[in-house]
Amino acid sequence: MLDKSHSVLVGLQWGDEGKAKIIDYLGSEFDVVARFNGGANAGHTSRATVNGKELEFVFHLLPSGALHEGTHCALGNGMVIDPLALEKEVKSLESHGIEIRSRLHISSQAHLVLPHHKERDKKQESGRKGKSLGTTLRGIGPAYEDKIRRVGLRMEELCDSQKFQETLLEIEDFQLDRELLKKYVNFAEQYGAYIKDVSELLRSFHEKGQKILFEGAQASFLDIDQGTYPYVSSSNSVAGGACTGCGVGPGLIGDVIGVAKSYLTRVGAGPFPTELTNENASLENRQLGEQLRERGREYGATTGRPRRTGWLDLVMLRRALWVNGITTLALTKLDVLDHLPRIPVCVGYKLDGVESNRLPMGSEALNRVEPVYAYLQGWECCTEGISRFEDLPENAAKYIQFLEERIGVAIKIISTSPHRDHTIFRESM
Ligand code: IMP
Repeated sequence: MLDKSHSVLVGLQWGDEGKAKIIDYLGSEFDVVARFNGGANAGHTSRATVNGKELEFVFHLLPSGALHEGTHCALGNGMVIDPLALEKEVKSLESHGIEIRSRLHISSQAHLVLPHHKERDKKQESGRKGKSLGTTLRGIGPAYEDKIRRVGLRMEELCDSQKFQETLLEIEDFQLDRELLKKYVNFAEQYGAYIKDVSELLRSFHEKGQKILFEGAQASFLDIDQGTYPYVSSSNSVAGGACTGCGVGPGLIGDVIGVAKSYLTRVGAGPFPTELTNENASLENRQLGEQLRERGREYGATTGRPRRTGWLDLVMLRRALWVNGITTLALTKLDVLDHLPRIPVCVGYKLDGVESNRLPMGSEALNRVEPVYAYLQGWECCTEGISRFEDLPENAAKYIQFLEERIGVAIKIISTSPHRDHTIFRESM
């Protein structure tokens, strides 16, 4: 289906675009799925058929490929890993009869997330008073802080469990709580064997002619550099992060697959020009926003936290296509728009009286822009489950064509429900 070489897959908005479904759909094309950034995130939901039953798994650390039997799963050096969270995910898979250990590979250079990182995350968030970032409180930011300060602990420490115990004993949490210490040392004893040089491992897969998919967590506008700083996560979640986060050069990457939702959501704080659910929104907009939330099941996979919702923003999407160098675009959740008589799409911003189709500099300016909308006619009928472009209602096809004209990139994959088969793949695009 795709280019012969390795691929990267990233989210083009603020996360929760439905990346896991697209990976599931493309999964059989890849021998290895390697995650390159982030930690135990808000959770990505993946489905698998196990013994004839469809099951749903929420992963935080494991790449979505974990559900494809025989697909190798690598956790790259760009990640920060909470050992106990990883153990829980592995055990959850095993309890459903899915074997993972023989295909699990953890980078020796990935950093550890320890209890004091989570504590620091909580303290920093409460210290921000009215200006909190809305982090997931999983210690991700503080673990990256330690990495950059060059005081972090890396997975390589776990290869010698005796030495690891001594290292942990220098940390107050472990001096005070010997049960906790035991849990971490047990993890080192059991998982030490999976810790390796992931860059070299990927080289050996490459040399055997096997295909790698680099999976990005979070999304482009949560990227520490390219996102809506400071309302971002702490790693490079754009496609370039695959290279630094797994130890491979850019020349090895062919396709860059971007996933965007047909509307927008965001969790946590930060600018969101097309938001419908903010405090100042009109009653009508709030209702529209709540409809999107309900129809799209826009609640955190683990916390149940309601996501902020709004209209698709093509200024942001064009920017995301550029910073990632997208070659294949997937649009998800088209069916969520089925009920709308007209569909607003943001095609520009007005800032201080000047209209533009580019992002302004900085989050403060982005907070002040006024979206300029184009209004498209809705299709007001069910697209759920459609898997051929020709079967889309005329207005849905026109909506897709409108987006393509505005962004200058073909939409090759369209998802019309959470199920793997409910996907349109446009081979000729
Ligand atoms: P952190 O990664 O926990 O530091 O959170 C930083 C920002 O990224 C917050 O706005 C979070 O809500 C957001 N974020 C982190 N992980 C995810 C995710 O998996 N999906 C969507 N947003 C996320």
